[in-house]
Amino acid sequence: MKKKLVFATNNAHKLDEISSILGEKVELLSLKDIHCHVDIPETADTLEGNAMLKAEYIYKNYGLDCFADDTGLEVEALNGAPGVYSARSAGGGGPYAAADFVMSIYAGGEGHNAEANMQKLLQNMQGVQNRKAQFRTAICLILDGKKHLFEGIVKGEIIKEKRGSSGFGYDPIFVPEGYTKTFAELGNETKNKISHRALAVEKLCRFLKA
Ligand code: IMP
Repeated sequence: MKKKLVFATNNAHKLDEISSILGEKVELLSLKDIHCHVDIPETADTLEGNAMLKAEYIYKNYGLDCFADDTGLEVEALNGAPGVYSARSAGGGGPYAAADFVMSIYAGGEGHNAEANMQKLLQNMQGVQNRKAQFRTAICLILDGKKHLFEGIVKGEIIKEKRGSSGFGYDPIFVPEGYTKTFAELGNETKNKISHRALAVEKLCRFLKA
């Protein structure tokens, strides 16, 4: 019998990406599938904290096995920013408070603000020689009430101008280590094999199969 697992997201990109990695043994349910229409707050100051907040919300309110993820782009020359604030405003605090003037511009969710976020990052990196960055994904799984954390990291660098049209978010300006193309040029098939999310999900899968 297929194992039912809620993935605390409605992001179609991520659902596709992750269900193709998990394979047919798992029936992946979205928030919409379980009729959860709440925008679960992501108020923690770490990726792990946000993943936990979302998974705990589902477990507490629906009593279902579930997992949630949070991803950030961590740029070395910006002390790890935008990091946990890759999609939203940092407000007045957080671990990067000293650089809030930078972070406060990284606002918005999927799609409509990706362009603005990318442009802001490129602007903040003007003249910066060290282009090293990494995508980091944290996943929190709650299975039979127990929490488990998984992490996936892809190192790479931020280029100076956007290239490519597939993927989402910061994909057009991130070239993973060992490649010359951006995530957005590599296309979803390749990206889904090597991405930060894929690495974290692989760990999740190994754990689920063990
Ligand atoms: P989330 O926690 O997965 O929603 O990611 C937060 C933000 O990080 C997104 O809104 C994107 O801007 C960025 N991001 C996450 N994953 C990726 C990715 O695979 N490629 C490019 N940007 C990403």
